[in-house]
Amino acid sequence: MITYSPSIFWFRYAVTVTGLSFLIGAGCTHSEMSVDPKASSSTNSGGISPQRLADAVHAVVMADRTVYATHVVSNLQEQNAPVMPSEYWDSEDHKVPLPAQMFRMGAELVNKNPDIGFTYGLKSKWPLNRQNRPGTDVEEKGLEYVAEHVGENFYADEVIEGKKYLVAVYPDKAVTQACWDCHNTHAERGDDYPVFKEGDVMGGVIVRVVVP
Ligand code: HEC
Repeated sequence: MITYSPSIFWFRYAVTVTGLSFLIGAGCTHSEMSVDPKASSSTNSGGISPQRLADAVHAVVMADRTVYATHVVSNLQEQNAPVMPSEYWDSEDHKVPLPAQMFRMGAELVNKNPDIGFTYGLKSKWPLNRQNRPGTDVEEKGLEYVAEHVGENFYADEVIEGKKYLVAVYPDKAVTQACWDCHNTHAERGDDYPVFKEGDVMGGVIVRVVVP
């Protein structure tokens, strides 16, 4: 059974999101498999571009994950509270979900809404939960790209069933020992599972935005 140890300290990101708008700009000009960060930054509709929407969604979901990890998970551990985080929160008493599970459950609710204009997920080429494996070739290329190009995001167009999307991939890094301790020893890791260490890109947040 995998639970958090009380000594685990989570990371903090400073994320400020102001004026988040869910208007998606038309007339975006980026090309297939473009990785130019400016590729879709302009819009001629007065709305925000698909790339800016993706960046904003990423900022919000990462802020929520970080706040939950820091102020709920770490706080419970520091207090040695009677309620603790556990992957098996739904079958055990007095447990709350892990940050990655909170993230996925939130994403599943959003992704059920076809009118909202975007979907997101936390994914990896080496998923502990098979639901988190890349869903398309572009997603897989994006995860490879962010692992190989440290500090860069990946942006590319994708056409699925005649509909155009911007796929944005943001690296998810091993920022604290808890990340690699838990993942490297997890029972669900595959045969090709890497040995993660500090700074490694373990996966990525993928945001897919409908391009009008
Ligand atoms: C206590 C164990 C634990 C810790 C600590 C942990 N994770 Fe995970 N992580 C998981 C589990 C379990 C999942 C699968 C969750 C689900 O059901 O979607 C997961 C999912 C992920 C995924 C999606 C791909 C996958 O493996 O399913 C990424 C990427 C990820 N974690 C990165 C991190 C990073 C980065 C950290 C540190 C900031 C971290 N994890 C800390 C257990 C952990």
